Amino acid sequence: MRTLTGITPSGKLHIGNYFGAMRPAIEAQARTDCYFFVADYHSMTAVFDPAQRREQTLGVAVDWLACGLDPSKSVFWRQSDVPAVCELTWILGSLTPMGLLERSHSYKDKLAKGLSPNFGLFAYPVLMAADILLYDTDVVPVGQDQKQHLEITRDIAIKFNQAYGETFVVPEPAIREDVAVVPGLDGQKMSKSYGNTIDLFGDEKAIRKKVMSLVMDSRTPQEPKPDADRNLAIQLLKLLAPPAVAADFEQRLRAGGLGYGDLKKALFEHYWEFFAAARARRAELVADLGEVERVLRDGAQRASSVAAAVLERARRACGLR
Ligand code: TRP
Repeated sequence: MRTLTGITPSGKLHIGNYFGAMRPAIEAQARTDCYFFVADYHSMTAVFDPAQRREQTLGVAVDWLACGLDPSKSVFWRQSDVPAVCELTWILGSLTPMGLLERSHSYKDKLAKGLSPNFGLFAYPVLMAADILLYDTDVVPVGQDQKQHLEITRDIAIKFNQAYGETFVVPEPAIREDVAVVPGLDGQKMSKSYGNTIDLFGDEKAIRKKVMSLVMDSRTPQEPKPDADRNLAIQLLKLLAPPAVAADFEQRLRAGGLGYGDLKKALFEHYWEFFAAARARRAELVADLGEVERVLRDGAQRASSVAAAVLERARRACGLR
């Protein structure tokens, strides 16, 4: 079974990204044939600074490798190193009804925000369909926000197969619902757009300060807290500390006698420890970006051979050959 995931090169990752998307994807490497790529073509619709694109593309690759993406188990490449995806985008786009794209939530949201749309933004779901169909993907694990894009991909695949004969694997979405929703500093879902994130890899002092600024209530340390399970620091500790440690802190908070300052200090220490190995690995990668580049090129070669076969099948099916 082949699983494919596109990684948006969107700058600094936070621990919500880690627990929500990265860890499940990295764990899937042990069970299935995984294809991962950094979606730099997709970034063209919104980022217009070449240096920024380059830096973010390589940066997100480094972060994923540091967290355990293993290029000996998975195929990992930069999307634009396999430009066949653009040819398939055209082929698929010619079968895609305008109405399907006009109904896209993410497109409508961006219009509503006053963004002046370019063709790329409108065509984004078609490029995403090409990403998926080009590799005979069986399953695409995505967050709830990408569900409609997956439905569009399926619609396009089915339409092509009906028009030109069985050509593409129609992929199944695997909507991540069971994964932890990570609360942010203010208790809302952790998200870059809410500005309530804890960086995955950041400056020690700055993150310590952020963690110490977690908003608690004004009850004294001595007071018992029957709602200890709803405490923000406890919720984060459950993700970052061994289960017995988190349970012990929760119990002490519930009983009374544990101050919020001490709880937050412990939370920071466990956060720092939890990512220590990844942080060390990341420092090595940053010191040898040539190696990261080689990993991506090697992945692109492997991805290209799959892509070439599928594209040839599609060309023949629709009479381009
Ligand atoms: N649009 C996806 C996101 O914003 C990224 C992406 C691009 C993707 N192509 C993909 C995800 C193909 C899954 C499959 O998260």
